[in-house]
Amino acid sequence: MRIFVVTFLFFSAVSAKHEQYAGWKSYYVGPSTTAELKLVGVLKAQYDLDFISNPAVGREGVVVLSPDLQEPVTKALNDAGISHRVHVEDLKTAFDVDDENIERQARVTLARNGGKRMPYDNYQEIEVIDNYLEEIAEKYPETVTLVNPANSYEGRPIQYLKISTTNFEDESKPVIFIDGGIHSREWISPPTVTWAIHKLVENVTEPDLLEKFDFILLPVVNPDGYKFSFTTTRLWRKTRSTDQSQISPMCPGVDGNRNFDFFWNTVGTSSIACADNYGGSRAFSEIETRVVRDILHEHLERTALYLTMHSFGSMILYAWGHNGTLSNNALNLHMVGVGMAEAIDELSLPHFPRYRVGNSFLVLNYGASGASEDYAHAIGIPLAYTYELPGLSIGLQGFILDPRYIEQVCKETWEGLVAGIRMAGELYDGVIDP
Ligand code: ARG
Ligand code: ZN
Repeated sequence: MRIFVVTFLFFSAVSAKHEQYAGWKSYYVGPSTTAELKLVGVLKAQYDLDFISNPAVGREGVVVLSPDLQEPVTKALNDAGISHRVHVEDLKTAFDVDDENIERQARVTLARNGGKRMPYDNYQEIEVIDNYLEEIAEKYPETVTLVNPANSYEGRPIQYLKISTTNFEDESKPVIFIDGGIHSREWISPPTVTWAIHKLVENVTEPDLLEKFDFILLPVVNPDGYKFSFTTTRLWRKTRSTDQSQISPMCPGVDGNRNFDFFWNTVGTSSIACADNYGGSRAFSEIETRVVRDILHEHLERTALYLTMHSFGSMILYAWGHNGTLSNNALNLHMVGVGMAEAIDELSLPHFPRYRVGNSFLVLNYGASGASEDYAHAIGIPLAYTYELPGLSIGLQGFILDPRYIEQVCKETWEGLVAGIRMAGELYDGVIDP
């Protein structure tokens, strides 16, 4: 009886959700020339459009449009002859379907795990992830340390695990730093980081990794945004701070991946607080990005590899993302990037897109400054990448990656990580000199 009541409450709560997306649609937009792509960029700036995946010449992107924007934007696209078509008819319904998929996944995985929620078996609330980190730290005190360097703007712990056989005391070991969840709506990101934790300490099939490297794993950089994307606004991308500019109590939040001190506030970023790519009032205005910055600097002299997990797009991207020029380590960046992508593709499913690897600006076809992977590389971390995990295009039942594929993405991404870590070890064991 109690179970029945709980289930009933859950479903009634779910159906009342996502009301703010009633009447919203998403569209594929496929510019076929550079001129058309430029025009899409102009529209994007003019209407502050939210492209949840960005178009390139010959590659469709997806834009979400509130009811009031559908008429003017599709008219502008029509007038310019830019190809577009509806992607999702009604976002509220699509998000409701997603919630049902998540609920179905919960029934399957809870039965499998004896009632326990694992952070990598479904899209999970922040509390599930935090509990996992705390439990792992308690269970494996020899190798795992839980660190809570600061709390988020709204006071949630920003927590990471240090995993090491020597408590980080053997300074000859290269450090590997992986973060996720800087963009809160990209829900597939945190599971790939917690899966890496699982594979390093619980289900060890690559014992060489912990022998040779020290690890820092931070699954959710932006817990406030993450929480908000569960409770209120599914497509929330930014932090939730409100002391950024005069208007910001109305428009909270900063795009964490525009807030790093790398050509801050110059390209692919907005100085308007309401914009989804608002870079903040100054570089590192956000406690969340300062936490990442401080980790990067703490072990700078021996951090060989930094990975930041985003979605969507099946891409592995490297510097320099603001203008498409190459760093003097581009050859190694590309080689290790390709090594990771090959390892992933080998385990991938036939209907998942193959990974693309390259300079962020050139592969994405847009520049963005103030991103974490560029900052990490600029301060001297030889290998730094943004992963755009698979999603969205795989099945259109729901709007986001169907939770039934989380396990697949975790497993294939892990193969990529293993390949990248081992290559980083071969290149930089004891020879990092930023
Ligand atoms: N989707 C990511 C973003 O827009 C890509 C960042 C790529 N890196 C870069 N340096 N631009 O934040
Ligand atoms: Zn992102």
